[in-house]
Amino acid sequence: MDKKTPPSPIKFFKNLDKEHDFIEVSVIGEIPSSLNGILYRSGVGIFEQFGKRYKHTFEGDGAISAIKFKDSKAYASSKVVQSEGLLEEINKGKNIYGSKAPWFSRFINGLKNKRKNTANTHIVAWQQGLYALMEGAKPTQIDFETLATIGEEDFNGEIKGTFSAHPHYVASRECSYNFGLEYGRETKLNFYELPNSGKVRRIGSLTLEKPVMLHDFIVSDNYLIFFIAPAQLIIWKLLLSIGSFIDCLKWDEKSQTEIIVVPIDDCEKSYRFKTKAFFASHFAGAFEENGKIYVDYIHYPDIKLFKNLGDGSELNWRESDNHSHGKLHRAEIDVKNNTFISNLRWNGHCEFPRIAKFFSGKKYPYIWLQSEEYIDGFFRSSISRINEKNEVVTFVYDEGQLCSEPVPITSEASGDGCEYVLSLVFDSYKNISYYLLLTARDLRFQARIELSQVIPITFHGSWVDISDSRTLSERGSILTN
Ligand SMILES: [Fe+2]
Repeated sequence: MDKKTPPSPIKFFKNLDKEHDFIEVSVIGEIPSSLNGILYRSGVGIFEQFGKRYKHTFEGDGAISAIKFKDSKAYASSKVVQSEGLLEEINKGKNIYGSKAPWFSRFINGLKNKRKNTANTHIVAWQQGLYALMEGAKPTQIDFETLATIGEEDFNGEIKGTFSAHPHYVASRECSYNFGLEYGRETKLNFYELPNSGKVRRIGSLTLEKPVMLHDFIVSDNYLIFFIAPAQLIIWKLLLSIGSFIDCLKWDEKSQTEIIVVPIDDCEKSYRFKTKAFFASHFAGAFEENGKIYVDYIHYPDIKLFKNLGDGSELNWRESDNHSHGKLHRAEIDVKNNTFISNLRWNGHCEFPRIAKFFSGKKYPYIWLQSEEYIDGFFRSSISRINEKNEVVTFVYDEGQLCSEPVPITSEASGDGCEYVLSLVFDSYKNISYYLLLTARDLRFQARIELSQVIPITFHGSWVDISDSRTLSERGSILTN
């Protein structure tokens, strides 16, 4: 018997239809009473405005969605990020930024190097603030309780140029690290340290050969590690917003991927060498062992994955052959001998790897991943957990569901234990979103939290513990990996 194709996933790529403060939502199963915290996620809230649809999902204005667990009850909230650029557009009643703006606006923006800070990629808590991030701009501070947009932050001018959407925590240093890029006559890669207490510091920088798109990096106890793929930005197109994000990118097949390893305690010194071209989208973690550095990351042969996503309108449940699939790799880096070996750890299709925060910078027992299967020719969203022996446990969603990255969550009291993973899911049959709480070790069902709306695509998120009486703004430390 022929199986029916699930409804189109296009409704996952439509404007956020309801914005609201935290409201109680219903729970199927049980939220453990020890689990008190909030998962904040960043994604796209506006795909089209003034009757025009953005060309690529990454161009969309950001929205923050949150789910709070308190005393076994659940409360949900969603708000569009009110960036200065978006407010200016709303005020003037037309697109001013991006590919849908009139040519004159794009020309003026190009001259002034003005772009809209969409804050649509990640959201992290650090010291007294919650910050929504996108890689082409500075952080945007968001209110912990109301999700209201407070405004752009450069930490007393310390951040020059952009601030990546992928800071990583190092538990042994009680610091997070991030990078940013400055494009100009030359391309500068800046390194930032965000301590649990104290100020943000720019701890060093180096010059890259070309202006590149660099999405993520990773940190071990002692090193910042970058895989600089030949994904070159065409700066003049970017400045003038000509075409979509993908139109401003060029994969230089003749170039190689540069491996850069920077000692955190001596950022002026760096190890740099090249290897065969590949693209690393996201990193799970890194650790040092026997004089070598090991890095788990999602490997692609090139950057076709961005074309697959587009504005979401061409995605369907049967396009497995057209997909560019990410695979989990483990790289072994020897900076003394300039060697880089990357081996496939798991042949499953996967993305958005996460480890428990406790292990950031050192060896970790588990990685959780968003994964996918094809059953009877149909795409099925899944979540997988891989251990050190490369043994994989997978939870497969029902047909017609699209899940987000699995965020490892735990109570502060449990120390290193990651007890659960939480994912936001879109159900194309019911045209509704829900959160699914699974046990972390064996991915068994724990609770399903029902929403009364669709939360459009989100990319990354952070769990913030609220298990004691401190208010959110009194809490320190960045709480993402
Ligand atoms: Fe990302």
